[in-house]
Amino acid sequence: MFPAPQLNDMTELVAAAKKVASARHPVSFSGAGLSAESGIATFRDKNDNALWSKFNPAELASQDGFKANPELVIDWYNARRQTAAAAQPNAAHTTLGARKGWIHITQNVDTLLEAGGVSPENVLHLHGTLDEDHCNNQCGYSSKVNMLAPEGLKHCPRCDAYLRPSVVWFGEQLPENVFNQALHAVQQCDLLLVVGTSAQVMPAAGLIDIARENGAHIIVVNKENTPKTHSEDTVLIGSAATVLPQLFTS
Ligand code: OAD
Repeated sequence: MFPAPQLNDMTELVAAAKKVASARHPVSFSGAGLSAESGIATFRDKNDNALWSKFNPAELASQDGFKANPELVIDWYNARRQTAAAAQPNAAHTTLGARKGWIHITQNVDTLLEAGGVSPENVLHLHGTLDEDHCNNQCGYSSKVNMLAPEGLKHCPRCDAYLRPSVVWFGEQLPENVFNQALHAVQQCDLLLVVGTSAQVMPAAGLIDIARENGAHIIVVNKENTPKTHSEDTVLIGSAATVLPQLFTS
């Protein structure tokens, strides 16, 4: 579906593969493009399926939107949960899952890296996950969600406020503990493999700059060029599920 690196990219691919193989502290940083070939919509692709071209993030992914219409928000997340529950890890997830010693920072709220074989303790979900709810009043209550058959809008059994998905909405802080671990990882890494992100959403995208400033080599895998890459980065154009297996075997 997407162009694999052409023959004239092979030198670059082989050089990148060597960097991957020799990295002592490798970290991946991923976005929605990692899961696109598993059938999960991205947010900003230039196609009609991209979530933010069909839906309004202010209505569906913000505290104000939730206050205005909580049922709408929960129904939208429940539809996304069912899509995620039906999705299978693709070759990009399983390629990463087969490698030990990596830390994976992801903006994705699915758990396909874990389904692809990555140990959950090695995945840092910067934007939370779909498989959990917590109290919108922050009383401390949280519960796992049945992703295949999620329930509609529910009240917190402790304090009666609404329950909401444990994902980060616009205007909200990232989970502090997870962000600090990610920060530590990019400060220590010698290689950052950036897969399938438009790198537009802060503070997550800022982690790429921090890795670069700390001396890591950046390898970007994306189906198109992204504006935030630097001339010293390696850029491999192609789909994640095509390029990642090549990167780890070349
Ligand atoms: P975006 O939708 O902004 O970007 C997806 C990127 O993946 C684009 O650069 C595409 O070119 C690339 N892409 C698409 N399909 C690909 C494929 N098969 N292989 C490789 N690359 C591919 O998604 P994110 O960067 O993840 O936040 O968006 C960041 C955040 O914005 C999300 O976590 C979400 C959203 O608002 C929250 O929900 C808090």
